[in-house]
Amino acid sequence: MSPEPTTPLALEVRGLRVSYGGVQALRDVSMVVPEGSVVAVLGPNGAGKSTTLRTISGLIRAQEGRIWVQGQRIDRKPAYKIARMGVVHVPEGRGIFPSLTVRENLEMAEAAVTEATDPVAEGIALFPALASRLRQLAGSMSGGEQQMLALARALMAQPKLLMVDEISMGLAPLIVAQLFDALRERAEAGMSLLLVEQYVEAALGLADYVYVMDKGSIVDVGEPSDMRHGSLASAYLGGVA
Ligand SMILES: Nc1ncnc2c1ncn2[C@@H]1O[C@H](COP(=O)(O)OP(=O)(O)O)[C@@H](O)[C@H]1O
Ligand SMILES: [Mg+2]
Repeated sequence: MSPEPTTPLALEVRGLRVSYGGVQALRDVSMVVPEGSVVAVLGPNGAGKSTTLRTISGLIRAQEGRIWVQGQRIDRKPAYKIARMGVVHVPEGRGIFPSLTVRENLEMAEAAVTEATDPVAEGIALFPALASRLRQLAGSMSGGEQQMLALARALMAQPKLLMVDEISMGLAPLIVAQLFDALRERAEAGMSLLLVEQYVEAALGLADYVYVMDKGSIVDVGEPSDMRHGSLASAYLGGVA
């Protein structure tokens, strides 16, 4: 047998097992993100989606399992080293400093950008709605504007792998579309994206591959077209969308 052609992987996760105290949150979770692709992780509350992202980021240690980023083992590395490898995590909730102004939030993303770049100009270029908000406290903006700011900060780091946790939560469809347009543009330019979402339709529109999680396990995997028409998935996602 000839060897399989190998697709380079931005992320490979094998057999993760994670518990919080006595509660097992992940059981044997494995997934891959091929270089330059968009992978969505769907599933109901408590499925283990955020725990998966936190474990990849190095914020939580797995009891078992291994994680590679671009072929390099990371599951024993501290979070800051994983971040320096280009893994950027936009956490659940708002990934911003609410009591700083919008301008300060953008300026504080500067560490990750090249010296030639103006982070404020770059943030505004990504999301023009931020232009009139620069002097406002970030926490006083609408939820959608706060997520634009969070995403602008994350994208300025030029992530190799961006992980976004439920960025659409509670937002109007028009705002979600703007956030997803920014993600799509970067994905088309080659960024790898791991997208945790409850907004199933939007996620399926962007994703190349989909994993469905429930009760700490991967229960389905496929391409978005399989998910839309698959019997398991339609029953399952019907409750989530
Ligand atoms: N900090 C924590 N301490 C204890 N249990 C937690 C903690 N965070 C999450 N869990 C539990 O782990 C499981 C997975 O949670 P989570 O990863 O947040 O799921 P999801 O993001 O899919 O909603 C759930 O049963 C949840 O109650
Ligand atoms: Mg979550």
